[in-house]
Amino acid sequence: MPNDTNSASSEYFNANAAKYAASEVHKHGPSLPVLLEFAAPTLRDRALDVATGTGNTAHALAPFVREVVGLDLAGGMLAHARQRAQDDGQTNATFVQGSAEDLPFPDASFTLVTSRHAPHHFLHLDRFLAEAFRVLEGGGRLVIADQISVTPAVQVWMDGYQTARDPSHHAQRPVEAWRELAMAAGFVWAQDTLVPYRLDFEDWTARSSNTPEMVERLRTHADALNKTERQAAGLEYDAAGKLTAHHEQMMVVRLEKCW
Ligand SMILES: C[S@@+](CC[C@H](N)C(=O)[O-])C[C@H]1O[C@@H](n2cnc3c(N)ncnc32)[C@H](O)[C@@H]1O
Repeated sequence: MPNDTNSASSEYFNANAAKYAASEVHKHGPSLPVLLEFAAPTLRDRALDVATGTGNTAHALAPFVREVVGLDLAGGMLAHARQRAQDDGQTNATFVQGSAEDLPFPDASFTLVTSRHAPHHFLHLDRFLAEAFRVLEGGGRLVIADQISVTPAVQVWMDGYQTARDPSHHAQRPVEAWRELAMAAGFVWAQDTLVPYRLDFEDWTARSSNTPEMVERLRTHADALNKTERQAAGLEYDAAGKLTAHHEQMMVVRLEKCW
């Protein structure tokens, strides 16, 4: 069942912060350079990275912007982000605790907002989009990188699968659902692309500290699908019929707030 408070996210990410700080998928995953390209940061930008986690996106932006603020619910994740900024001598990156759905910043205080590998955790994506719109100046842009489902039917299955691994997963929407919500918030949908990811099953479940029982439940959940459904869900099996990975599409989108 999807969670109904943000405490599931802070509990899960505080417990697994060191694993996320070490995760190659998060540090170097291929959505990051595409997000940077879509964001086109300049030294005039004041940037906000929402749900920054251990700060991968904020750290990548820092050399190219005047200032970047990373915000996250989980203090344990932010501790890694602050440490890395200090280790790298980044003096224009700061980190604050807070919620994506209630941003603690005045109207029109940023020129660029980003959020990567995180909005599928947000309980109220519409509120996050409204908040991002509010804190952006006219002419500003919001650049998102997040996993999508290829159809609404795949979303139903995928949300069950993902939640069995990480109770703070909330909704992995198709691109069309994103487009409707973004436009309802007032954004212009300027540019989008899909970046393929392969999530190795062992690595993916280890990062979440899944117990052997949880891993078995995930395998049973996947094995119940027929061949066509497995293909639609992006599941990968080896020749011996063992689940080895799933493939998903990371949507990167640039949304613009007109003057
Ligand atoms: C996968 S991690 C972030 C990855 C990071 N953005 C990156 O580029 O590597 C997801 C993060 O979303 C945060 N999060 C989840 N729901 C949130 C919310 N409503 N407001 C702020 N942060 C949230 C979690 O605490 C977690 O740190």
